[in-house]
Parts: sequence; structure tokens; C-alpha cells
Amino acid sequence: MAGVLKAERRRLEVITPQHNQFRAVAPWYDLLMADVPYDMWLRYVLSLYHLHRPDTARPGPVNVLDLACGTGSMAIRFARMGCSVVGVDISDQMVRVAEERAATQNLRVDFLTADAADVDLPSGHFDLCVSLFDSLNYITEPLRLQSAFVRVARALDRDGVFVFDMNTAYALRNRFFDQEDLRAASAIRYRWRSSFDEDSRLCTIHMDFWTGPEGRHEEMFVEVHVQRAYESQEVETMLNAAGFGRVSAYHAYTFDRCTETTDRAYYVATKEPV
Ligand SMILES: C[S@@+](CC[C@H](N)C(=O)[O-])C[C@H]1O[C@@H](n2cnc3c(N)ncnc32)[C@H](O)[C@@H]1O
Repeated sequence: MAGVLKAERRRLEVITPQHNQFRAVAPWYDLLMADVPYDMWLRYVLSLYHLHRPDTARPGPVNVLDLACGTGSMAIRFARMGCSVVGVDISDQMVRVAEERAATQNLRVDFLTADAADVDLPSGHFDLCVSLFDSLNYITEPLRLQSAFVRVARALDRDGVFVFDMNTAYALRNRFFDQEDLRAASAIRYRWRSSFDEDSRLCTIHMDFWTGPEGRHEEMFVEVHVQRAYESQEVETMLNAAGFGRVSAYHAYTFDRCTETTDRAYYVATKEPV
């Protein structure tokens, strides 16, 4: 009973989504994402990069920005390839895990805690910017997303390539976030339930997590995540306004166009040659 009361008290401590996203979950994030095919994502991103930057003189990428890098899964992979990498994330807790992971592997990655919409980045420095795993859906104010796009455009070199993925309205409306793992043997158990508001285009996901042995000693924490569904036309218009002249959208992990049932769209944006 005490455990239940403690869990309820913790539940009541829920603060606003922006403050509680990717905080308590940070130490558990890599375990929760253990099955995410980051190596395949890396190969896919590299093929998009080469397709959109057919610059054989510079095989690259050399300087990579991982925006909303989380615990650094992609940043670390680029560093292992020999790239010079900067990782930016709004959650200090996620960044601390990323720093520890890189240090353990003796890899140099410059991690920075900052909001993608405000971050100061060196101009014309990067040849590739990635932002993966629907991170940019978390920027729910279109003007803030626009600001992030402007910063990426400035930070990329003349032929720089910006690759990011987004959950589509189809995915958010059809509750792709509704997932659970309540198996007693799991070190972290979770139940996520989402709801989508057509007017605001916002998807709110209530995430309950339990850790420790099931029963008396278990601990509970709650995060509330909010994502916005952006239409591809809206994204393209914002990218154009930010200085990206060429924008392509692909059904994730293919080179096909998106359809009405695309759940994840990959965008590739480059500037017009001057
Ligand atoms: C689903 S996680 C993805 C993390 C990482 N890209 C990956 O592939 O594992 C989304 C990340 O976006 C970050 N994020 C959300 N809003 C952000 C913002 N405005 N600026 C920077 N990072 C943000 C979160 O802190 C979180 O680490």
C-alpha cells in the first residue's frame, strides 16, 4: 500500500510536459531503445547524404551535427567513423548519459545542452546535420521549429545536407505511441497512452514507467510528452523560408515518396547552389 501511495504521489508531481520530457527516463533510455536499429539508420542517412551531395572529391561527411542527439546513439556512431561531431539536446539528463557513453568508448564528441530553436552554432561549419527519431515533432510551436531550421541552414556549409525524420499525422492520429511492456521480468516496465487533437495537431502521450522488482519495492515515474504533427507542405515551406532551396521527403528507410499511410517521413534539405 505504501508503494502505491508513493507511486500516486509521484504521479501527482507531474510538471508541464516541456519540463518533464526526457528527464527521469534518461538513465533508462538506452535500455528502452535496445532494439532500435541505429546501424541501419546510419546506413540509410549516409545513402541519403551521398544522394543529395554527389561530391566525390569529398567523400564525407566530416563535420556532423546531431540535433536533439538524446543519449548520443547516432553522434557516437559518426564519431566512430572518424567524423568530428557536435551533439545538441535540450535535456541535460540525456546529454549527461551521452557524455558518459562517449567517454567510456574513448570518443571525442562535443555535447551541448541547448534548445534547437535557440542554439548558437558555428556558421558554415557542418556538412551534415541529422535529427532523428521524431525529435523535431517535440518542437510544437511552428515558429520555434522555423527558428531551428534557420540555425541549421546557417550552420551547414554551402553543400550541406540536413536529414531529419518526423512522425506523420497518420502515425500520431492512429496512436502509434500506444505501447506497453508490462512483463514482470523487464527491468523497466511501461505503459504509454496517446491522444491526438485535430485542431491543435498535438499528440499528448502519457507515459507511466515502473522500475525495480514488481510489487512492494517498485518505483514509478511519469513523463508526459507532446508532439506536433506537421504536414509535409508546411515543413517544406518552413525549410524554404529558412534557406533550403531543395527539399525531398521519403517514406522512411526507402527512396519512395510518402503516401497517405506513411508513418515516418524522412526529409532531406539542401541549399540551392549559389
Ligand atoms: C525520441 S528522443 C531521440 C533522441 C536521439 N535523436 C535518438 O535517435 O535516440 C527525442 C530527443 O529530442 C530532444 N528534444 C526535444 N525537444 C528539443 C529541443 N527543442 N531542442 C533540442 N532537443 C530537443 C529530447 O530531449 C530527446 O532527447
